[in-house]
Amino acid sequence: MPALRVFAPGRLGRLTLGNRVIKAATYEGMSPGGIPSDALLGFHRDLAAGGVAMTTVAYCAVSPAGRTFADQMTMREEIVPALRRLTDAVHAEGAAASIQLGHCGFFSKSRERGGRGPRGPSFTLNTYGLSAGMPFARAMTEDDIDRVIEDFGEAAARAVRAGFDAVELHLGHGYLLSQFISPATNRRRDRWGGSLDNRMRLPVAVLGRVRERVGPECAVLAKTNLSDGFRGGLELAEAIGVAERLEAAGVDAIVLSGGFTSRSPFYLFRGPAPLRSMIEVEKSRLARLVLRLVGPSFIRSYPFEEMFFLPEAREVRRAVRVPLVLLGGILSLANMERAMDEGFDFVAMGRALIADPDLVRRMRRGDMARSRCISCNECVAEMDRGGVRCVLG
Ligand SMILES: Cc1cc2nc3c(=O)[nH]c(=O)nc-3n(C[C@H](O)[C@H](O)[C@H](O)COP(=O)(O)O)c2cc1C
Repeated sequence: MPALRVFAPGRLGRLTLGNRVIKAATYEGMSPGGIPSDALLGFHRDLAAGGVAMTTVAYCAVSPAGRTFADQMTMREEIVPALRRLTDAVHAEGAAASIQLGHCGFFSKSRERGGRGPRGPSFTLNTYGLSAGMPFARAMTEDDIDRVIEDFGEAAARAVRAGFDAVELHLGHGYLLSQFISPATNRRRDRWGGSLDNRMRLPVAVLGRVRERVGPECAVLAKTNLSDGFRGGLELAEAIGVAERLEAAGVDAIVLSGGFTSRSPFYLFRGPAPLRSMIEVEKSRLARLVLRLVGPSFIRSYPFEEMFFLPEAREVRRAVRVPLVLLGGILSLANMERAMDEGFDFVAMGRALIADPDLVRRMRRGDMARSRCISCNECVAEMDRGGVRCVLG
């Protein structure tokens, strides 16, 4: 068999990854009380042993207000030792470790201690917070914005102390930085809103602060949207502008995704929305009722296709030279090689690696060419049922 490019080492900033496969951030639901558990460590150790070059610990909030709900990790000093055990375990298996740092902005049902409600770029209805008694979000002040920049920097510095080789800044999926980028949710008239340069001012400032705090050895990735997935949101032409600005600001790689959790949640997955399971795992009675009533019309499904972001990602590939990570419906060795042929530097895989954490090792041995994942999206509900897992067993 000719040498496959996806198994060749690749450069990510100053980091060299053993191959081109990254485990995409998939919220694990394994940090009860915000504390990383042994299950979280085991999940990432298995992925590392299974052959990915780098695994990504999902959605770690940069501050308590940055959580969508209370059991998410906030990057604080107390959890650094537990995260250090996790990164040691990943390194012992020969892989690198990344952590996704995010802030949810207005999309929250987690009440910060002290009682300040959710905040985003502009005043808005917060449908997600309805059942938690937080139906509205306020516009962030200049002080709030400065705080967020510092919080990202501090969280990234802690991530390095916890042994992470890379941090992934969440600029997509309708969370805070994506809310600032999106023309649909950023209606500010100051220097943080309006033109794309203004809407990118906060993400670029965050990237700059993070870079200063982590130093040159740690790779900094950004996960961005190719499209928000609804009319009036970010579209490809501006998404290319986002990538150009991140490249100019010195990001080490961009992970191309799409979708807006509060508006088009299944745009980022494709395939059926597992509504019945989502209702089952919802803890709040009110939220269960709301899901039952409006879920079928509000939570739209999108047909699944292999490599579903490729056509739009290809346009970004043409526009920038910075390393790009292709993601979305990558299931097979053929998909991975296609991504390399198309000029992408890495692939990231979510559901396929939840189904088969040892996929890369088995592909290299030649005894598996395709994940068992059927894109049923049941794993999305499982993260609230005690930890993300594949229901195929
Ligand atoms: C259970 C689950 C949880 C996810 N959690 C996150 C998350 O915390 N942060 C994020 O950026 N994306 C998250 N995603 C999206 C994935 O990173 C990825 O963008 C998406 O699943 C498409 O890739 P795939 O087709 O390889 O699964 C999640 C996906 C799944 C299936």
